[in-house]
Amino acid sequence: MTTQAENETLTRVGPGTPAGELLRRYWHPVATALDVTEEKPIKAVKLLGEKLVVFRLAPAPGDTQPRYGLVAEQCKHRLASLAYGRVDHEGIRCPYHGWKYDPSGRCLEQPAEPPEYKHKIRQPAYPVQKLAGLLFAYMGPEPVPLLPRWDALAREDGKRWVTIESLIDCNWLQPMENSVDPSHLYWLHGTQFKSGHLDLHMTQYQEKHEFIRFEYGIMKRRTTPGKNPADPPMVDEHPLLFPTALRHVTNEVRGGRKGGMRHNIQIRVPIDDTHTQVYRVNFVPSATERSPLDQDPPFEHRPLKDADGNYFMEIVSAQDSMAWETQGPIADRTQENLGAGDRGIVMFRRLLKEQIEIVRQGGEPMSAPRRRATRCALKPLRLSLGLYRHRRDPRVHSLRKVDCTSGSPELRLTRLVVSGPAMTRFSRRRNDG
Ligand code: FES
Ligand SMILES: [Fe+2]
Repeated sequence: MTTQAENETLTRVGPGTPAGELLRRYWHPVATALDVTEEKPIKAVKLLGEKLVVFRLAPAPGDTQPRYGLVAEQCKHRLASLAYGRVDHEGIRCPYHGWKYDPSGRCLEQPAEPPEYKHKIRQPAYPVQKLAGLLFAYMGPEPVPLLPRWDALAREDGKRWVTIESLIDCNWLQPMENSVDPSHLYWLHGTQFKSGHLDLHMTQYQEKHEFIRFEYGIMKRRTTPGKNPADPPMVDEHPLLFPTALRHVTNEVRGGRKGGMRHNIQIRVPIDDTHTQVYRVNFVPSATERSPLDQDPPFEHRPLKDADGNYFMEIVSAQDSMAWETQGPIADRTQENLGAGDRGIVMFRRLLKEQIEIVRQGGEPMSAPRRRATRCALKPLRLSLGLYRHRRDPRVHSLRKVDCTSGSPELRLTRLVVSGPAMTRFSRRRNDG
């Protein structure tokens, strides 16, 4: 049973809290490229309970790509909001008395002060990197880890777009526990889908679930008996990417026809203790379409409730959102009664506690690489990032992971190539994110 103290430890995200300190060892999306434009270059944002402003610097001569900054919202002079400031090619200027800060937080100008004073002032500032049209921020101590270039974020051989869902009014841990909760698929989403895997839900429940810890999180593996006694079982897997993402796959449907696989990464960003922003980066491989990394992908906004606050219960992500929010702003885990179907959740909580303790003792947590790989290592990985359904051979599909790309300045964590037993049949699968 979870105590109140444990619940606090696992859920709170502010500076100095146990989970907050762990979460500060990772990059998190803080805004999209759409949010800060040449016309409107400053936006007030919140991340891990801190009020911040993200800004896009005015282009300097010769700039080919926009540069971004992220600093505390309140000016170090007398606390006015920088959200109403101005930017130029060097930094952001406070609207009140004109103090100006660069993206590293150095104070560059104080119009009414003697010249030496500015060197004593430092505005809290955090690094920003853009990937897949999202502006990622890192709010922890140095050394700064690499920004993971998960395949759906970094592949160029297909079509990428980003879905931005309504802000979720609950703590980040509720969506993340859902990522290791496969039995909810039948009930929460079961009325949505009437065929295949979910046919079984009213009459039998014979799935076997395994949760396997791996380098970057927890793999959820599901084995479902065939519909007929002679049918082999189906195995599918998809991982929770520690600490705040789910990697998932569905079938792409275009013009009412099934297409290839639609990959996605769902990133659940802890805004503060009781709000979570979900960004879903979608990617469909294609022989003809390309998504160059230096171009922002299209964005779509997905509301989850109507004007009266009722959930759109025909939308899978709104169904999930209903479950997470109705658990409470921060679910009171002292009142739970966990069962055998909650093994994945227990495992995730243990992992979270373990990683919190590693950080508390000054160590490096999992899945936050701080060094570039020095050579290109190709190694088999028992990991299928997505829901691959396989009837002929119940063994897990063997994928390969390229740890780095030779000649590339970036570590590419998951350039995945399907290998091993031929995957002879992909079937339509459900979104059980
Ligand atoms: S409050 Fe910002 S310059 Fe005075
Ligand atoms: Fe779900």
